[in-house]
Amino acid sequence: MSDRIRMKSLLSKVCTADEAAAMIKDGMVLGISGFTKFGDARAVPLALVKRVEAGEKLSVSLMTGASIGSNLDEDLGDHGVIARRLPYMGSAKLREHINAGRTMYLDQHLSHTGEYIRGGGLPKPDIAILDTTYITEDGGLVCTSSVGNNALWALNADKIIIEINETHPFEMYGLHDIYTVGARPGRGPIPIVHPGDKVGTPYIPIDPNKIIAIVVHQLPDTPVTLAADPDAYTIAGHLMDFFKHEVKKGVLTNSLRPLQSGVGAVANAVFAGFQDSPFHDLTMYTEVAQDAVFDLIESGKMLAVSTTSFSVTKEYMRIFDDVTKFHGKVVLRPQEISNHPEVIRRLGLISINTALEADIYGNVNSTHVAGTKMMNGIGGSGDFARNAGYTCFVTTSCAKKGKLSSIVPMVSHVDHSEHDVNVICTEQGLADLRGLAPRERSRVVIENCVHPNFKDMMRDYVKEAEALGGHTPHVIGKALSWHQRFLETGSMLEADAALA
Ligand code: COA
Repeated sequence: MSDRIRMKSLLSKVCTADEAAAMIKDGMVLGISGFTKFGDARAVPLALVKRVEAGEKLSVSLMTGASIGSNLDEDLGDHGVIARRLPYMGSAKLREHINAGRTMYLDQHLSHTGEYIRGGGLPKPDIAILDTTYITEDGGLVCTSSVGNNALWALNADKIIIEINETHPFEMYGLHDIYTVGARPGRGPIPIVHPGDKVGTPYIPIDPNKIIAIVVHQLPDTPVTLAADPDAYTIAGHLMDFFKHEVKKGVLTNSLRPLQSGVGAVANAVFAGFQDSPFHDLTMYTEVAQDAVFDLIESGKMLAVSTTSFSVTKEYMRIFDDVTKFHGKVVLRPQEISNHPEVIRRLGLISINTALEADIYGNVNSTHVAGTKMMNGIGGSGDFARNAGYTCFVTTSCAKKGKLSSIVPMVSHVDHSEHDVNVICTEQGLADLRGLAPRERSRVVIENCVHPNFKDMMRDYVKEAEALGGHTPHVIGKALSWHQRFLETGSMLEADAALA
């Protein structure tokens, strides 16, 4: 154990997960590790689950990096422990509690949490619980498979519980780059000009006096699943053709720009598509690295990846067998830096994220089903969409067995506005909206992205809207009628509704 706790004075803090969990009191604010299910604090939160399963009443505010694994949002949510939650979650079960109003959810841009915490817009954590590979001689925390908000929690929490996670190799040291933005006024620029740049320290420097408990465990990360979706590969193909066209025009080279992508099957398919493409010497400045990214690194196509988290399937957990091959190629940063508008704008990223729905003018809804029910949260998509060089959104043209069009007259909730969105892509095709006025955009979106079953309905809508006039024509009374029809009949199709 002493090789994982190299600051000897801290050895006296070692205790069981149950003992550490007993330090958490009702009403506390917790800041815990975890991003896209990886690198989450788990031993102590799982001990909290045991406490509430035994009948104890406990309710806390839970702040993380993003989604957490280990079934924690599910188990803590079901026991009513999570009174407040931020800034992102991806749990179908917790979603039910949020949409029923039992959990208060603050859906935030992932780069914003730090500013709120430092600026007094959010309470500082009473206790931080941090997933850690080992503690250095000086009390520095070497992170594991994500960094997320760990440095933010460590620096701002009153007290810290460390989880020493023995499933991660010592060679995790060297993957992380911990840089903290300075105080205002007088904050300087973040000196990152290339995705691979290292500008901070390989560990989180902390005040060891804040550590109240250290729990050692061997609980592994939670692998993700990636559905094999043929539409994802079709969408990836359209994007590849778009990039090739940009290269042909001379605005991009075959190394493109630093890439960013969201999580999920489409994003992974896009990166799998780069393997046999003419593109080379690629880089990424992103918040999450999925399976296909590691294939690209291993094949030499991808030179540098900046991220805040790994998020891989069971098969790709093999990457942790020898992480030294990623030294010098992969940098794990705090999410405030991986998602920082300053760096994103400087690098001119190609950003690819997934929409729930988009409208004919280019507004995108990533979060709210039918305008009201939370799906997951905006995550980092807004950080990237607002500031990237190319802002692309992908979605299949239909959902719910073809009954629901993902392209609608007006989105029922706006996360990314028409002012930010450059490209919308479905399996039907790709709409390049740059340089187009709203009346031109609607035509390109309908002809290239809308599913054939919905095209005539959409053309009729636009005709009626344009007859009424306006810069962005709408029939206000009908703009959300497709959603209404779906809620009432289970289908957006007029023909289905007529039969209902
Ligand atoms: N209206 C209602 N439901 C819809 C819908 C729409 N327009 N489009 C899709 N859905 C449903 C699907 O039917 C599916 O439901 P199911 O789980 O009951 O089968 C669910 O939404 C998820 O759809 P899917 O096509 O599998 O999408 P996904 O897993 O790729 O997730 C988002 C899409 C938008 C929910 C997801 O990308 C997200 O949360 N994005 C916001 C965060 C983000 O972009 N982060 C980026 C950086 S990581």
